[in-house]
Amino acid sequence: SVEDEAVDKNIFKECSNIAFYRRQKQWLSKKSPYRASLDSVTTGKDSTSFQIIDEATKIPLLAEVYGLEGNIFRLKINEESPLKPRYEVPSVLTSKPSFVRLISCSGDKGSLVLADGKGDLKFHVTADPFRVDLVSEEDIVMSINSLGQLYFEHLQIPPKQRATKENEDSASVDTSQQENQDDMGLWEEKFGNFIDIKANGPASIGLDFSLHGFEHLYGIPQHAESHQLKNTGDGDAYRLYNLDVYGYKIHDKMGIYGSVPYLLAHKLGRTVGIFWLNASETLVEVNTEPRVEYTLTQMGSVAAKQKVRSRTDVHWMSESGIIDVFLLMGPTPFDVFKQYSHLTGTQAMPPLFSLGYHQCRWNYEDEQDVKAVDAGFDEHDIPYDVMWLDIEHTDGKRYFTWDKKRFPNPKRMQELLRSKKRKLVVISDPHIKVDPDYSVYAKAKEQGFFVKDHEGGDFEGVCWPGLSSYLDFTNPKVREWYSGLFAFPVYQGSTDILFIWNDMNEPSVFRGPELTMQKNAIHHGNWEHRELHNIYGFYQQMATAEGLIQRSKGKERPFVLTRSFFAGSQKYDKGAVWTGDNKSDWSYLKISIPMLLTLSVTGISFCGADVGGFVGNPEAELLVRWYQAGAYQPFFRGHATMSTKRREPWLFGEEHTRLIREAIRERYALLPYWYSLVYRAHTTAEPIMRPLWVEFPNELETFGTEDEYMLGSALLVHPVTEPKVTVVDVFLPGSDEVWYDSKTFAHWEGARTVKIPVALDTVPVFQRGGSVVPVKATIGKSTGWMTESPYGLRVALSSKGSAVGELYLDDGHSFQYFHQNRYLHRRFSFCSGVLINSCADERGHYPSECVVEQILILGLRKQPSSVTTHSSDGKDQPVAFTYSAKTSSLSLEKLLLKVGADWEVHIR
Ligand code: GLC
Repeated sequence: SVEDEAVDKNIFKECSNIAFYRRQKQWLSKKSPYRASLDSVTTGKDSTSFQIIDEATKIPLLAEVYGLEGNIFRLKINEESPLKPRYEVPSVLTSKPSFVRLISCSGDKGSLVLADGKGDLKFHVTADPFRVDLVSEEDIVMSINSLGQLYFEHLQIPPKQRATKENEDSASVDTSQQENQDDMGLWEEKFGNFIDIKANGPASIGLDFSLHGFEHLYGIPQHAESHQLKNTGDGDAYRLYNLDVYGYKIHDKMGIYGSVPYLLAHKLGRTVGIFWLNASETLVEVNTEPRVEYTLTQMGSVAAKQKVRSRTDVHWMSESGIIDVFLLMGPTPFDVFKQYSHLTGTQAMPPLFSLGYHQCRWNYEDEQDVKAVDAGFDEHDIPYDVMWLDIEHTDGKRYFTWDKKRFPNPKRMQELLRSKKRKLVVISDPHIKVDPDYSVYAKAKEQGFFVKDHEGGDFEGVCWPGLSSYLDFTNPKVREWYSGLFAFPVYQGSTDILFIWNDMNEPSVFRGPELTMQKNAIHHGNWEHRELHNIYGFYQQMATAEGLIQRSKGKERPFVLTRSFFAGSQKYDKGAVWTGDNKSDWSYLKISIPMLLTLSVTGISFCGADVGGFVGNPEAELLVRWYQAGAYQPFFRGHATMSTKRREPWLFGEEHTRLIREAIRERYALLPYWYSLVYRAHTTAEPIMRPLWVEFPNELETFGTEDEYMLGSALLVHPVTEPKVTVVDVFLPGSDEVWYDSKTFAHWEGARTVKIPVALDTVPVFQRGGSVVPVKATIGKSTGWMTESPYGLRVALSSKGSAVGELYLDDGHSFQYFHQNRYLHRRFSFCSGVLINSCADERGHYPSECVVEQILILGLRKQPSSVTTHSSDGKDQPVAFTYSAKTSSLSLEKLLLKVGADWEVHIR
């Protein structure tokens, strides 16, 4: 059965199968060191450059150092005069990060010290051997090339041309060396039956970074691995190479659908980031040397103790391109998030509906089926926002078309969904069926819009439709044309409630090497696929999102789910990223948490995993637990593969239906909080899902936690990810914190692990003392029905009896929040018995008629004698209240306090 189908190791490479890895490993051990030539230093407008010289070959590399606004350094290393230009990744960096001028300060002979003249950070270059230290207040935070792993293969003339050029006697060719070279995959590399012929020969690069005092690293998605990066050991590395891996193996470092070549390191007192801007196949080795403490006895009579700091070494290797690395110096986790967003952009603001629940399956058969499933949600009183159609909705997997038998009237179907205030998402993959009668194919063919094979013809590979060509999204003209396909008159049967899902965009090529495209396929600008493989999917999503914006004449926010992604995809994933083809197994539910935390800290906040597991049939208990977990993950979609049994939420008996309903309804109740968090991610780059170390950076115990996390700064979520458990151990961090069980209101002081009894209806969620969480007090059929629903505020008091929180709201779908400041941003604060609603951002204005109807205050130690509301026009009104001494909670109901107005509630 599919569930048992193991991921085939003969299909996918391991490090030992990768030639540039073997070359770097072998040659690094014998190579001579690099020296920086500091006589060559030149200072340009934005950067300082100097040569780096390989002592053996004397061929120079050119290094450029830039200072960027906000504690960021950029180091670029390229050949000084390459045979031809090497690929530099376009489109990822935000328009122009602002440079700060680096001044060279002191530096004895043999070194160069650069600083921006403001902060305490120095970029210290040692000439011989070449090494860089990033120094903060005399403390070396990070070193570059201190292990001498700088590696740079210079482009060469192909041996054949060389031979003819030099008119060499063919008899003198040393065949043994030739064989040896083949083995190293210089011009040709074999894997199984595949031969990769490399027009440019070897072009690999590598560099090492030592992080002093750091033992905790995170990032470099996507892997089905723990949140904290593990040591890689011999012959092993984290691989960044976008691949379609059905039912991927977990706890594995192989590359899956997307890549963000960016990692963070954290220790007490400092967080830093390393962003390696390269879109070719990349390997990352991680090795932590723990702290050692040893006694020196030979140093005179007194024994001296010496401590050697722990250190983590990171070794990046890429198949081609240049070294272009950004060093984000923090010092706090939130500083690093901001720094990374300066470079690659923040999370785009998605439409509100996309934060609701999505119902997907491969496939909903026909219009009748869609209608019945849609009605099922209403019958069972389960809210949902989006119905999804997979590849079978098309005419023979020709995207932008409809199967006429199954979906004879797509507009009628969309009108039905529209009347329920719901949306439709349909799939659109990058492969285009080879069929001259299919207009998308014919037009793309005619205009030369497909990726080419190495012989110059259109690349053809097999995917869902059979033989297909692949749109070259790296070409701006192709993107423009593709965007145009989403225009309403062009995309027959589409309406403005239809949104898009981009899948198979690694790209997936069924009979290709590792199920992807040959590396010697040719893209726009004559670049080989190998140079840009990891950014292909990014470009499809970019073009799709642009298309959806254009069809609305720039008015509406798009939604595009993508499977493949790259650094900066968050700018375009006004839709989301999901973790692909997981399995209906408890272990996949469990690993969804670290996988999403990793995406979250690398800028991709809007992410999720298929609820229920894509491959296989979940038992009812697993499905319920998965809904309960998914309700607290940003992108919340149920999905299942073709061969699975139907699993709509009401098919597992009344009790399980009830539990799933509750989980989804609680998601909808929390939507105001979610939307406010998304706004924060959008404006200030704060991740929505946060590993505990981000919120508690000074508490060592949190650095490795990944079975629970923070949703924003107010909620701690510890999903149940094991069968038949009756109790879970929940770690509540922070010695100054108080935590409240969000259902029972029981509270604990922080810095302890508590045993929480759980039944199948328990979702362990805790509200942090000191927070106010805005909710909706009534739930509708979808987000569209809840615009006018009243709000509630859940106030949880800190040990000092105070709390703060915020609410962001706008129309939920247009760009008016941005262009016309059509939004409300409110701040709630509670102190000395007074809850205040005030304006958090005077620029925003939005005419909301909504009221705050309920207020719940947790942690109020004594029963109040009176509660009154004060509105800004000076009117005071007494309010009825219920106090529970047992749970120290105060509940106010039936209030009519305008959410957008200033008011106070006094509790005496
Ligand atoms: C891929 C996707 C999956 C989808 C299927 C058919 O396997 O990951 O979500 O259902 O293709 O389109």
